[in-house]
Amino acid sequence: MNGPRTQRSLRREGRMEFDTLIRDGTIVTAVDTYASDVGITNGRIAAIAERLPPESARQVVSAQGAFVMPGGVDVHTHLDMPFGGTTSSDDFETGTVAAAFGGTTTLIDFAIQYKGQTLRTAFDTWMKKAEGRAAIDYAFHCIITDLPDSRLEEMDALVRDGVSSFKLFMAYPGVFMLDDASIFRAFSQAAKSGALVCMHAENGGAIDVIVKRALAEGKTAPKYHALTRPTTAEAEAVSRAIALAEMAGAPVYIVHLSCNDALERVREARDRGLPVYAETCPQYLYLSIENFDAPGFEGAKFVFTPPLREKWHQEKLWAGLARDQLQVVSTDHCPFCYKEQKELGRDDFTKIPNGGPGIEHRLSLVFAGGVGGGRFSVNRFVELVSTTPAKLFGLFPRKGTVAVGSDADLVIFDPNGEETISAKTHHMRVDYSMFEGIRVKGLPRQVLVGGKLTIDNGRFVGRPGQGQFLRRRTYSGV
Ligand code: URP
Ligand code: ZN
Ligand code: ZN
Repeated sequence: MNGPRTQRSLRREGRMEFDTLIRDGTIVTAVDTYASDVGITNGRIAAIAERLPPESARQVVSAQGAFVMPGGVDVHTHLDMPFGGTTSSDDFETGTVAAAFGGTTTLIDFAIQYKGQTLRTAFDTWMKKAEGRAAIDYAFHCIITDLPDSRLEEMDALVRDGVSSFKLFMAYPGVFMLDDASIFRAFSQAAKSGALVCMHAENGGAIDVIVKRALAEGKTAPKYHALTRPTTAEAEAVSRAIALAEMAGAPVYIVHLSCNDALERVREARDRGLPVYAETCPQYLYLSIENFDAPGFEGAKFVFTPPLREKWHQEKLWAGLARDQLQVVSTDHCPFCYKEQKELGRDDFTKIPNGGPGIEHRLSLVFAGGVGGGRFSVNRFVELVSTTPAKLFGLFPRKGTVAVGSDADLVIFDPNGEETISAKTHHMRVDYSMFEGIRVKGLPRQVLVGGKLTIDNGRFVGRPGQGQFLRRRTYSGV
């Protein structure tokens, strides 16, 4: 690194161009792979060239033997979220630091409108939770739980303020679930304003009946969470969501898609040319209903919604990612500690807070299984974890690519770095890992957020609060 006096004199001589220079790496975007240096000034990418002079920068970072890729964009997280009688265990500081360790530099979390509240109250509440705490950039979707006609225009006001997507629930009756009429009105309003509706698609009414039957039969163990939420309940809701969106002339984004039945519904709609998109999450790619065989109550670690499925679904989801039937991998990071939080449901699986931790390991898991597993290219990997989420949610090209003018959110990703995932070494504030013991090949070596070195060979060298709130543009397709 050059000393400060050298820097000043170089700047005076006009030879000092960059704050940071990333040298000798291989740039990977959704479309290209090529050897090049990257020069960074004022938090943005200022130059990309085969060779930039090292003396032109204050700080030089070597990317020898590694990929230089755009920072990960995780569009589905729940930090500091009250749910199931408790609150998710990562807040905007701990969760975003863990995200940075894993190469994610932007996240979109959910601001929840509780019944009777304005949508603005939800947004203000979550802005306060994040203020001054985030180590990476962040934005919000708004979860709508109560939508009389009088509130429809509040959706447009939020879109103008950069909250250009909404999550609706077809599950969790009495908590989050909206009826079909409200969902249809929301789609219609979104079609007018350019907002994107994200749908939690499960038939909550039918599931509720099945759950009550199970409890009446004394079936209270964690595995019954999965056994009472059939794949058909997810597929039916995906179909209904697509039909309601089509009638309203709106796009739809299906969140946390978990099974082949639901994937088929998405595929059919996309084959008809509808603007239907879907994400899956690493838990559905790596874990299965067999995880409920864990001893004692430990199956509770895998209670999230939609639930884990039979193992054969995993390969269908990987194929869906390879063939663009699925466009995004997010995490649905919603951590609850096993002790005291998951334990709330020891005698009744319906009282186990739903959610699992994953914000830290998305890039490594998708790279290892996707690229390492020979299922898709490194470019498709970048597209799934960064470019398409940025495009769908109004952040591209500021995020999601390596280009002059884009934010210098960059990951120096070592395709040969290896790690065994474990709660003993992870940085999420949660006392277990869903992926405990899984060995991954492909790790972030350095991570820059807005040009600032934030992770350096396993050390956090950034600052909580350095992350900025992002006002997002409206949906414009991919
Ligand atoms: O179990 C889950 N997925 N918890 C978070 C809330 C949601 O439905 O995404
Ligand atoms: Zn959901
Ligand atoms: Zn979620």
